[in-house]
Amino acid sequence: MNDPHLGALVVGAEDLQQRVGELGKEITSDYTNRPPLLVGVLKGAFMFMSDLSRAIDLPVEFDFMAVSSYGSATRTSGVVRILKDLDIDLTGRHVLIVEDIVDSGLTLAYLRKNLAARGPASLEVCALLVKEGLQKVDPDLRYVGFRIAPDFVVGYGLDVGERYRNLPAIYQYTGPLFG
Ligand code: IMP
Repeated sequence: MNDPHLGALVVGAEDLQQRVGELGKEITSDYTNRPPLLVGVLKGAFMFMSDLSRAIDLPVEFDFMAVSSYGSATRTSGVVRILKDLDIDLTGRHVLIVEDIVDSGLTLAYLRKNLAARGPASLEVCALLVKEGLQKVDPDLRYVGFRIAPDFVVGYGLDVGERYRNLPAIYQYTGPLFG
């Protein structure tokens, strides 16, 4: 895409697919005999969730949650609002939260606490990207795709103002941020 606001490539499409395949294999072997319920965090995780689920050779189930963090586009306050809750009861389920990117870790900390209170048999997190050195709380991530520098990035589900989600790779974003 020829866009003046797109900066350097951060993770290429082939590297993404390769790593997602590895994560899928790891999850497949860790969850044999107890297929997970994948909980995708909308909207950013939709593409990762789609590829990851196809790399898991188990009868997984899907659910989605939409949350919004109060704060600016670049900084979360840690106060999270649930915009769409899950449809499935988590009691006794092996839940795997699928997240796009962990920045401060506050959104995930909230989600983890909220879902843990619903009585799952287990609760783990698979995050595609983790920004190095920015976490204000220990995010306790069982699976991580890539650790990246703390720049704002777009592509492969990640947006700025709903754009760039369809890019097959992850790029630095150098344009203006709204919100
Ligand atoms: P946290 O609560 O600070 O960890 O923020 C996590 C959420 O902020 C993610 O789920 C994304 O929706 C959003 N976010 C954080 N960093 C980026 C980025 O670099 N690009 C796009 N969205 C981001």
